[in-house]
Amino acid sequence: MPMDHAHRLCRLGGFLAEHRAFWQPSAFVDPELDWQRTQPALWHYLQSLTDADVASLEADPELLATQLSPWIDGLDSALAWISVPRLDSAQGQTDTSHHDRLSTGVPGRKWQQIRSFAARVPSTPQDIHKAPLLEWCAGKGHLGRWLAAIRDQKVVGLEWDKALCEAGNQLSVQHRMACHLAFQDVLAPEAADWIARSGQVVALHACGELHERLLVLACSQGTPSLSLSPCCYHRRSGDLYRPYSIVGRERDLGLTRRELRLCVQETVTAGRRVRRLRDIEVAWRLGFDALQRELREQDEYLPLPSLPKVLLSGAFDTFCHWAAQCKGLGLSQQLDLSGYEARGWQRLQALRRQELVAHLFRRFIELWVVLDRVCYLQEAGYQVELGTFCDRLLTPRNLMINARLGSGRR
Ligand SMILES: C[S@@+](CC[C@H](N)C(=O)[O-])C[C@H]1O[C@@H](n2cnc3c(N)ncnc32)[C@H](O)[C@@H]1O
Repeated sequence: MPMDHAHRLCRLGGFLAEHRAFWQPSAFVDPELDWQRTQPALWHYLQSLTDADVASLEADPELLATQLSPWIDGLDSALAWISVPRLDSAQGQTDTSHHDRLSTGVPGRKWQQIRSFAARVPSTPQDIHKAPLLEWCAGKGHLGRWLAAIRDQKVVGLEWDKALCEAGNQLSVQHRMACHLAFQDVLAPEAADWIARSGQVVALHACGELHERLLVLACSQGTPSLSLSPCCYHRRSGDLYRPYSIVGRERDLGLTRRELRLCVQETVTAGRRVRRLRDIEVAWRLGFDALQRELREQDEYLPLPSLPKVLLSGAFDTFCHWAAQCKGLGLSQQLDLSGYEARGWQRLQALRRQELVAHLFRRFIELWVVLDRVCYLQEAGYQVELGTFCDRLLTPRNLMINARLGSGRR
């Protein structure tokens, strides 16, 4: 018998709490992690990996789990709790090829995500169908236009970027689609009025507190139907995640923004150049970290702000002078910094191996957070289906929640 959502949330919470030492500490902050001392055989195995091995494990979560399972108690059974089915397409066999022109100007990968997501938005009863379908954080409204076309339904999209609203509305006029983008901050009080007027809301990749706000408003107002694919769980005010569901609050993991960011750090879609630049940035940050610990005579991490990306095509010395200035540290122009750069690259090698262990837990954390949303909806009277809407290679943020208000609450 499949495990219900609340039960799964509890089991996952227990597993994550038990193995906190593997995913919570940051190797950036603490160059040697506790588990390296308590599990020397694991660390020995990771050190024996070539860079190519590391890259393969980073790219393949299943292989990573297989390789690390000898050292992680209970991992094999816990994998069953993060396995979710592919949602069935609700669209049937209808021919939609005459609407393909709507893809013009939409990046290919984004268009495929939109098509897969839209195919799994449930159809609604006739009374709900008459009210406009609401798209939350719509961007240029590509999803909304596609839904308007294939369902022959009016769509309103909310978006706070005026330029996106204007561009999207022009596209709707050009394609003669009944889809209108309204200029609206979804965190503002008026956003509640839009929810009240709608029978069905969709949200594809609305970030952290934006989709959390949708959940709260929909649950308090009893929106009949909701389809959402959450992403960027860390984009929120407040450092600490407070679970929404009763069952989640009873077993609160105390997740911080850094840990929430961990679950969206997978880069299946990043190209070679982006990966290379990210390596340079991390190595340089680690090199500067070694330098600042000596300069300040304090063995303590000093966080740096995000950096102007143009610095990465310059030299390590320029980066260090920028970083020192940010932190109010005096740094002589004469100091030879090449040794620190070499240490940064060396630490990057170790960090990538340390992070493999934390990365193993990414999908577990994501599922825990998403199941918290699922249970919150259930506690508010919704029947909820959780699954994936596309392959993870199309987007790793491939989870989708379909919620329909049970007849008892309408
Ligand atoms: C990740 S994009 C997703 C866009 C679209 N749903 C898609 O999948 O292509 C998030 C969108 O939310 C918008 N957004 C961010 N904060 C917002 C807010 N407070 N109110 C309304 N829209 C917001 C952004 O401008 C952006 O267009």
